[in-house]
This record gives sequence, structure tokens and C-alpha cells, in this order.
Amino acid sequence: MIILGIETSCDETAAAVIEGRGDEVRVLSNVVSSQIEIHKKYGGVVPEVAAREHVLNILPVIDEAIRKAGVKSPYPPLLKGANIKGAGKVDAIAVTAGPGLVTSLLVGVETAKTLGYIWNLPVVALNHIEGHIYANWLRPISGNSKSEILNSKQIQNLPVRPVRSAGGQSDSKIQISKIKFPAVILTVSGGHTMLVLMSGHGKYRVLGETRDDAAGEAFDKAAQLLDLGYPGGPAIAAVADKFNKVAIPLHPPTTGAGQALSRGQKKLPRPMINSGDFDFSFSGLKTALFYQLERDRNWRKKISAYAAEFQNAAVEVLVHKTIKAAQKFNCRNVMLSGGVAANLELRNRLKIAVKEKLTGAELIIPDLKYCTDNAAMIAAAGYFRARKKDFTPWQKLKTEPNIEFR
Ligand code: KG4
Ligand code: ZN
Repeated sequence: MIILGIETSCDETAAAVIEGRGDEVRVLSNVVSSQIEIHKKYGGVVPEVAAREHVLNILPVIDEAIRKAGVKSPYPPLLKGANIKGAGKVDAIAVTAGPGLVTSLLVGVETAKTLGYIWNLPVVALNHIEGHIYANWLRPISGNSKSEILNSKQIQNLPVRPVRSAGGQSDSKIQISKIKFPAVILTVSGGHTMLVLMSGHGKYRVLGETRDDAAGEAFDKAAQLLDLGYPGGPAIAAVADKFNKVAIPLHPPTTGAGQALSRGQKKLPRPMINSGDFDFSFSGLKTALFYQLERDRNWRKKISAYAAEFQNAAVEVLVHKTIKAAQKFNCRNVMLSGGVAANLELRNRLKIAVKEKLTGAELIIPDLKYCTDNAAMIAAAGYFRARKKDFTPWQKLKTEPNIEFR
């Protein structure tokens, strides 16, 4: 079954084509048009600007995804596709219906609705968080992810393309990992922080979530305090990782986190680490950083030390609770998802903790390009729903900007 995925919930216009067979998913194309450069100057995503960019990008991105995948375009005059003998044809469309920015979501949902209608294809409406979870089915990954991430100008200037041979751009080395249930998934993005217990495809139980800021949001706000710009997560990670590499520990590491502290700098709190539940809280961590900076006249000379301590604090709490959840529910797989899953410190610490503290559980971490927003993950989640014929008729398809994940 071939699925066209569409994702426009925030500031990435993304389309991808995947092929699902049994429990296996193969990515045939994955195109992301990033708006980061546009929003950078505002210090964050401006919803109306994002929506206008989506409108400009959506069809070129879908067209590119279909062409790269080497699948037949369902109706050639609308999108070129690759009209190759024997190539597969799209069987269903999967689109992010929510949560997200309503003006951004509208572009993807209305496009999916229109294409579903004129191509007579069924549409799966997806929760964005479920999409992030299914990034874990897209591995191991190879290939050059950069070639697939284009900025808006590049997308809008794509030439009228000649038909190419099938499979030329496919990520052919992708294989499915045999994911075993129950699995626990730490899903950490700019909008959400959740621990999810998954007992089968589409079967979730939210064990805990953030009571205030999401982990990614906290990284973004901390980066603002430290004058590191937008997007904050990668900016903090970059200086923190560099600091951790060169810093000589002044205090012996306790849990591994002590390493980032420089002389005179107080440890930041590890919010709710011993709360005994699976909830998180990150707004206090950001506030603690704010007051430390206020009290330190020389903080600008220690930006990387503060960034490293902030990263340590957030990662320590995330890893601790994920391991506790995996232990409590005897999970056979631990998975990571969402934009913050691109954080190398989090990936490494979770790897170590799973090895040291869990027996018989395997850790699965998506490739970096499938952590931040993309449509391959939406198509993958869509495939498992399409298998069950969990479609939404176009008359009922609508955006769900505030939909909960349950
Ligand atoms: O999943 P995503 O692309 O979009 C949402 O659904 O929110 O996640 C974006 C979030 C941003 O807050 C960004 O700062 C964070 O993920 N992020 C990171 C890293 N890369 C992206 N946070 C920490 N370390 C990173 N390397
Ligand atoms: Zn996301």
C-alpha cells in the first residue's frame, strides 16, 4: 500500500511517499520545505507568515515527493509524477489534522481533502503526535537528509521537471525494526512532552505529560534568555555539547550532570524528578535559569556553561522518568520521538540508561531527519490506520488545532 503523507502543522511544509507491506514501512520520498530562515528574524513562528508560505509551497512539495518516489501520479495533468510502467500508484493520503496552528493546518487539510476528492482516494486524518511516534518505524536510515530539506525559495523555484526513472531518490536502505509491545515512548517536541505507553498499533495510554511548558518550548525560552537565537533547541545543544567536550569538571559528576557546572555556578533544579508520577514541569527550570542569570553579572562569559547545565537538567528528568515508566510496565521497547529527540545528549544518555537499567528492552531512536516535523512519519502512521480502513470521508475532514492525544 502506497501512502502520500502531508504535514503542515507548524512551519514546515512537508510531503512524503511511503510504501507499507505487512509491518514494514519503506520511505520512497521525504520532502521538507523549511521556513526557519523566514521566522528567524521574528524570534519564533509567525502563524500568518507560516500559512502564506504553506500556500505557496504545498503543491510544489507534494509534486516533488510524488516525483522523487517514482510512483504514478493518480491523475497526471494535475501533478506530473513519474509515469513509469509498473510503478505503484498512491492508495491513500494521510494528513495531519491537529494539533497545531490552525492557519497552517488548514493548508494541509484542505489540500488533502481536495486531492482525495478529485483523485478519489481515501484520506486518513492524523494526530501529529501519533505521527511523531511512528518516526520510530522508519529506521535504520541512510542517505543524505540535507538534499531533501529545501527552503521556501528553492521549493518555489523548482523547474518543471522531466520524468525520471523510478526509485532514483528512494531511501532504499530503510528497514523496519521489529517493534515489540508494550513500548514506552518519550515524545518531546516544541508543543508536547509526554510519556506514552503503546500496547499495539493505535493503542495508547498517556502515562504523564508536562504540566506547563513543553521540553522544546523550554529549550527555546532558555535560548532566548541566553541570547542564542531561534530555534533554541539546536542552539543550546550546539554550545552545550561543545562545552561538555572541552570543560574540565570542577565538581565530580554525580549522575553525569555535574560535569557542566563551572565554578560559582549553582546547579539548576531537576523539576519533579522524584514526584513518583510520569508528569513533567519545565517552566520552573526556565525561571531558575532566569534568576541565576540576573544574579550573575558575568553570565555572558559563561553562556555555554549555563546552556550545558540547562540541557543536563532537562535531559536528566526526561531520561529518569522514561526508565521508570519502562520498568513499571515491563516494556520491551523504549522509543524517542519529536523535535527534542534530535538532542544528542538526550539520545546518548537514554542509550546508556537503557543499557544499565533495563534488561531485555531495546531502545529505538529515529534518525535525526525524522525527529523534527516531516511527512514520512505522518505517512507511516497513516499506513497503519489505512490498514484498518480508518479513513475520514472528505465531508468530515477538518482541522483539529487543539485536539488531545489519547
Ligand atoms: O517536533 P518539532 O519539529 O515541532 C513540534 O511539533 O513542536 O519540534 C520542534 C522543537 C523546538 O522546540 C526545537 O527547539 C526542538 O524541537 N529541538 C531541539 C533540538 N532540535 C530541535 N531541542 C533540543 N535539542 C535539539 N537538538
Ligand atoms: Zn512536531
